[in-house]
Amino acid sequence: MSDDDQGAVQIEVESDIAAARRVVREVATSIGFGVTETARIVTAASELGRNVYKYASKGTMHWRTLRNGEISGVELRFEDHGPGIADLDEAFQEGHSTGGGLGMGLPGAKRLMDEMEIRTSNGEGTTVTVRKWRQH
Ligand SMILES: Nc1ncnc2c1ncn2[C@@H]1O[C@H](COP(=O)(O)OP(=O)(O)O)[C@@H](O)[C@H]1O
Ligand SMILES: [Mg+2]
Repeated sequence: MSDDDQGAVQIEVESDIAAARRVVREVATSIGFGVTETARIVTAASELGRNVYKYASKGTMHWRTLRNGEISGVELRFEDHGPGIADLDEAFQEGHSTGGGLGMGLPGAKRLMDEMEIRTSNGEGTTVTVRKWRQH
């Protein structure tokens, strides 16, 4: 697998979430994802970016394009040094929110993407990595 292109968007103020959405839309489109798939990826990015802003107050979205033989894809990694997620099982239950939200962000993003990995540790932060693959 060879990596083509990568970049990062800092998430510090609310408008950075919109900036991250725009970058993800551009990257997904450039890889050749269609309108529907791009919308799914952008929605997932929006939810994960908002979580960084809301629960950790700041962090970074790293993005990179992926290629595995005939298949290309995109990887998004949201990193923060916030409080961490105490109970991951609970966090992935639809409707569970510690922030008065809808509690659909994490489960929704997982459904919208092909792969998701989370590393989180109490007081040290959270890293959520998601990937989406596209057949040529
Ligand atoms: N980056 C994060 N840092 C700390 N806690 C998080 C983070 N992302 C999600 N969480 C926790 O997981 C819960 C579920 O997140 P989510 O499904 O996006 O729902 P919502 O944001 O509406 O609460 C949040 O309420 C919060 O407790
Ligand atoms: Mg959320």
